Amino acid sequence: MENRPMTTPDPYAVRDDEEQQTVDNCRLLLRAAAAADVPAVEALHTRCSPRSLYRRYHAPVHGVPRMLRKHFLAGHSNYFIVTTPAGQTIAMGEFAPASRGYQPQLALMVEDVWQRRGIGTWLTRRILRTAARSELRTVYADVLGENVPALQHFRGFGGVVESWEQGTAQLAIPVPEQDGPPQHPDGPTAEPAAAT
Ligand SMILES: CC(C)(COP(=O)(O)OP(=O)(O)OC[C@H]1O[C@@H](n2cnc3c(N)ncnc32)[C@H](O)[C@@H]1OP(=O)(O)O)[C@@H](O)C(=O)NCCC(=O)NCCS
Repeated sequence: MENRPMTTPDPYAVRDDEEQQTVDNCRLLLRAAAAADVPAVEALHTRCSPRSLYRRYHAPVHGVPRMLRKHFLAGHSNYFIVTTPAGQTIAMGEFAPASRGYQPQLALMVEDVWQRRGIGTWLTRRILRTAARSELRTVYADVLGENVPALQHFRGFGGVVESWEQGTAQLAIPVPEQDGPPQHPDGPTAEPAAAT
């Protein structure tokens, strides 16, 4: 009989639509969110500072906004989350495709203690690839005028302010064309997916 090495399940095995990267020695996973993620997303909202929540939602919020919970439970596929190996959700990104006169929008929220580690960049790349698959050329983000980190962040993706409304900038962010065959969804700092 052929002598095959024993294989044990890899706890970090990732699916095709998942990406992983190591940040501060922690292997993080980025994937589309599902209804089962509601409790972890709720916990993320309780750990985020009021300032981060305000910058994300442009209003004081306590817990997960009702609409977001509704979308999660309905299985909308437009939310991406970043999780730790312990299953904590530490960031989320939202891509709202154009609908009924609304332009395609993206929004992000990274837990305070995880900010400035490239996670917002990771989520943005993923959302831009999703937008490219929908053949979009531009996506938009509404950013409060005082929100220097987000303004800087989107400028890094070529975002320009198209208009201002009541202290909020509407940024137009170009969607890079995806050349060639579909690639594995990893950014320059992402690690190759573990073999399954
Ligand atoms: C804006 C936000 C999503 C950025 O996420 P992040 O993971 O911290 O961002 P990254 O580490 O990927 O940084 C990307 C770039 O953003 C800018 N940036 C991020 N934090 C910054 C800060 N505190 N000050 C200035 N620029 C900052 C920088 O240009 C940075 O690039 P650099 O590190 O090469 O200088 C995050 O700060 C956040 O969740 N804020 C609260 C919610 C929010 O503001 N959402 C945006 C409205 S949709």
